[in-house]
Amino acid sequence: MPLAIISGTHWGDEGKGKIVDFISQKANMVIRAQGGSNAGHTVVVDTKKYVFHLIPSGILHPNIKCILGDGMVIDPADLLQEIQFLRENGWEDSLQRLFISEKAHLVMPYHRLFDQLQESFRQNSRIGTTGRGIGPAYEDKVSRWGIRAVDLFNMDSLKAKLQLVLNYKNILLEKVFEKPPLSFEKIFEQFENYSEQLKPYIVHVLPIIHDALATNQNIIIEGAQGTMLDLDHGTYPYVTSSHPVAAGSLLGAGLGPLSDIQSIGICKAYTSRVGEGPFPTECLDHTGEALRERGGEYGSTTGRPRRCGWLDGVVLKYAVQINALTSLVITKLDVLGGFSKIYFCTHYRIGNRISSELPIQPYDWKIAQPVYQELEGWESDISNIQYYNDLPRATRDYIEFIEDFIEIPVAILSVGQDRKSTIVRKEIF
Ligand code: IMP
Repeated sequence: MPLAIISGTHWGDEGKGKIVDFISQKANMVIRAQGGSNAGHTVVVDTKKYVFHLIPSGILHPNIKCILGDGMVIDPADLLQEIQFLRENGWEDSLQRLFISEKAHLVMPYHRLFDQLQESFRQNSRIGTTGRGIGPAYEDKVSRWGIRAVDLFNMDSLKAKLQLVLNYKNILLEKVFEKPPLSFEKIFEQFENYSEQLKPYIVHVLPIIHDALATNQNIIIEGAQGTMLDLDHGTYPYVTSSHPVAAGSLLGAGLGPLSDIQSIGICKAYTSRVGEGPFPTECLDHTGEALRERGGEYGSTTGRPRRCGWLDGVVLKYAVQINALTSLVITKLDVLGGFSKIYFCTHYRIGNRISSELPIQPYDWKIAQPVYQELEGWESDISNIQYYNDLPRATRDYIEFIEDFIEIPVAILSVGQDRKSTIVRKEIF
């Protein structure tokens, strides 16, 4: 079955946007299934950089249908900005291929506010969220206060829902956080306007997706964030509020446990993390700084500097398992050029124990130290290389070491931001 699920293997920012754009060349449909504008997916076409937070990265290819799926939380203001950006940059036509699920939840102005208030309330225990209202929007979905895309079709019912939820939020704002209440009229008016602008894109997406499946079209589900930010399977509580793992992609796209899926992990040649939480291979010295500078590791959503370190193989092996990965894509391999030695974390030392498993106890996460395999580095710039066999021997040794370690093939290597800087060892479609 031509269905490929793309999942980040670590803590997000693995370069999923570039890879989704690249493999979209042979796709018919790209679906975002979870998360919202906490994601920042960068695509570079002919030296022009596009950053998408909500719109699937396949939008820059003609004829591909792009779907904002059931499991997403969509901030209408952010989405309208992206739509406007496409219009202003000559992609007006692409908007005819954009569909928003009726079931997707909306990020409301109070969600952003509560994201910030909750983070300040936590003080030293803050999560380091992107501040985009993601947690509070999913909280409302679970506690059934959520406002969905479908609600934009019926202003009377939206009015009643918003009135109720805002009454509740305003009590919290005034009594718990000692902040002024939000104006119902202002938010409602804003949403009347959003409704007019977004209604043309909001549809029942399931028949479109199932029709594509039935006619054997190539479908990509573009995961956002990464395995270790998964609400159930990541470094809880330092996680996002959705399910970036492959199973979450299926759920959020409205698909069941289909057989014969390609589950593709996107893994950076080193590891980074933004926000708080455990990160055993983090390099707090000049190596971390060098990776950050060479890799341009600053958040595409918040601009925050990312924490950087060597590739964490313990996490990678876990990602292979939990996402049932069938192949791996390694990105930003060019960033490692110039290091005389490369280090790959094969195990953790936890106290006097060596472990190949992820810790469960929060304390063990805190004290876990990486056990490294040292490999030779390479000096040369590899960003113009197009064929695997032209890569330096040491680069290929690194890739083949990773392959042996995780026991699945490395299908694609990315050696630069542009579509052209991509080495394909195994076609996805
Ligand atoms: P939230 O998703 O904004 O609630 O943030 C929760 C955690 O996930 C924080 O540590 C964020 O930095 C992290 N996070 C959320 N989205 C991304 C992403 O797209 N890339 C990397 N980290 C992310």
